[in-house]
Amino acid sequence: MSSVRKPLVIGNWKMNGLVAASGALTRELGETLRTPEMCEVVLCPPFTALQQVGQLLTGLKIRLGAQNGFPADKGAFTGEVSMAMLRDIGCDYVLVGHSERRQHLSEGDGFVARKVVAAVSHDLTPVLCVGESGEVRAAGESESFVLGQVERGLSMLPVGASFVLAYEPVWAIGTGLAATARDANAMLAAVREWLCEKRGIPRDTFRLLYGGSVGPENIADFTAQNEIDGALVGGASLNAQAFAAVVLGAARGYLCTNK
Ligand code: 13P
Repeated sequence: MSSVRKPLVIGNWKMNGLVAASGALTRELGETLRTPEMCEVVLCPPFTALQQVGQLLTGLKIRLGAQNGFPADKGAFTGEVSMAMLRDIGCDYVLVGHSERRQHLSEGDGFVARKVVAAVSHDLTPVLCVGESGEVRAAGESESFVLGQVERGLSMLPVGASFVLAYEPVWAIGTGLAATARDANAMLAAVREWLCEKRGIPRDTFRLLYGGSVGPENIADFTAQNEIDGALVGGASLNAQAFAAVVLGAARGYLCTNK
């Protein structure tokens, strides 16, 4: 199977932006980014802005993603949004298992695994988020912890299904303390190896991202690493100039490699 490892930058706006502000940010990005041929770009606005942002992205080479989705297709799940609904509104991607949901909404790996399957069955590419806390890191158990999350989160992934995996160490999110590019690469090398060896997934048929305090100043260091195919960006994705610079930097770093 051929490589799918074109660089990918995903902006996760988290719970930020009323409809008007989301529209303004999307318009500004559309003007600033131009056609990002060298890099695939995805925006994940809040649910309330998905429709508008999706409409504004029509004709631009920027794709729409959601920050979360529920595993069941429909029914008595008050307050939830199904993968079918996300597909219906124009999403191509959905974040699954973000550490903020694991932390604040007690989402566990079993639930996350069901979301992965539901996303795939509705033709959405799941972006499985994994990452260790500062305590796990201090205990020297980062790799086994992250590989455990990968194993359980992808335990029901259908053979041949597209997916993306984002390594976001919890201690690096929103702190300004990014992992070093070398450490992130080492973790993602272990993840890629595990997926190839234990799950038999061909090496270059999935993308691995880094997330956690990524900005214009450090993105190229990450994508210049052999195992890092792009980034999941929080804070810097809320500013059009900064996000455009991240996208350019991702493509620049990537050119230094032979992925
Ligand atoms: P920051 O880029 O703000 O650290 O957030 C990372 C993140 O959680 C993206 O999903």
